[in-house]
Amino acid sequence: MAADAPDTTAEEPPQTAAPGPAIALNHQVRLAARPSGMLKRSDFEFTHEPIPVPSDGEFAVEISHISLDPAMRGWMNAGATYIEGVELGDVMRAGAVGRVSASKHPGFSVGDHACGIFGVQEHALSDGRGVIKVDPALAPIETYLGTLAMTGLTAYFGLLDVAKVREGETVVVSGAAGAVGSVVGQIAKIKGARAVGIAGGADKCRWLTEEIGFDAAIDYKNEDVRAALRERAPDRVDVYFDNVGGEILDAALARLARGARVVICGAISQYNNTTPYRGPANYIALLPARAAMIGFVVFDYADRYGEAAAELAGWIADGRLVSREEVLEGGVDAFPETLLRLFSGENTGKLVLHVGAR
Ligand SMILES: NC(=O)c1ccc[n+]([C@@H]2O[C@H](COP(=O)([O-])OP(=O)(O)OC[C@H]3O[C@@H](n4cnc5c(N)ncnc54)[C@H](OP(=O)(O)O)[C@@H]3O)[C@@H](O)[C@H]2O)c1
Repeated sequence: MAADAPDTTAEEPPQTAAPGPAIALNHQVRLAARPSGMLKRSDFEFTHEPIPVPSDGEFAVEISHISLDPAMRGWMNAGATYIEGVELGDVMRAGAVGRVSASKHPGFSVGDHACGIFGVQEHALSDGRGVIKVDPALAPIETYLGTLAMTGLTAYFGLLDVAKVREGETVVVSGAAGAVGSVVGQIAKIKGARAVGIAGGADKCRWLTEEIGFDAAIDYKNEDVRAALRERAPDRVDVYFDNVGGEILDAALARLARGARVVICGAISQYNNTTPYRGPANYIALLPARAAMIGFVVFDYADRYGEAAAELAGWIADGRLVSREEVLEGGVDAFPETLLRLFSGENTGKLVLHVGAR
């Protein structure tokens, strides 16, 4: 045996990990197949490769938290909607936050915390485009994936700029106990409107009315939404903020006030359809109400994200806005099952996956 070869016959003490990063490899989740209907684990491939090293003008991020978004289901389809679909074999697109672990970029230093579209993986390289620095001393790091990021901004611009909510109006929001919906209702209250939330289950409805200040809630899984809207929106609906589409959209259209604005933010009830989206059967309800139905994409407000995030942060700081995040463990391996929770309604507030580093 050569002098420097290990003696495999000898009793060796248990190996302990050498000091340094706990994750030696970069584990990744790639899109392997385009789902038909509800997404499944086999639509993804689990790969690993060496931790990337930045070139000039780049930095590397050790990702700590990944955002789970209903839109990911659309990104798994071929073609483009408001953004290109993810290519087969590519790392699944995702917003994420993490800590800069190596840098050859003048704007980002080791130790900075950053938020960007880093993908479902443990480490990412970036040239800084579309990346913002975040301060974990000001808010929990996961809040930078929710209320202080895309979902909070969606609620903010959708309600204030698109719906132009006014004091005294009635705002009804579906998906009300989720990341966007819970913020919509709370901003409505801040602006002096009445907030009615539609959500699945008694616990979510209780959270809306007893903990975060909604005036009323409707449990669409156990109540007749049309009848409940007549009762809980007695003055009809001035703003319907739609996150779910389908039958709930129809029920809301049937209850519009004159001059109502229907904001089409999303249609999660339709994202896993194998048949075409179900359109509103009673769109004609817009006519007597002189109502408008308006679609919007939060990305169009990118140049105003800073001012909106600052206002949202102020409302959180003064206790008027509750930001709830549900952070699940399991690392990138748990990504498919965690994403599915959005479609079964197992999340309250913003759904986030913790992937390793803090
Ligand atoms: N337009 C934009 O720029 C923009 C940006 C961000 C998000 N969005 C959209 O905003 C919506 C909310 O997103 P989010 O991130 O805040 O997700 P989320 O509301 O936190 O999570 C999704 C929720 O949808 C509800 N849901 C699932 N399947 C449903 C169904 N068949 N019928 C009714 N409700 C159902 C579930 O709550 P229940 O337990 O209440 O069923 C689930 O918790 C999505 O439609 C998303 O695509 C749009």
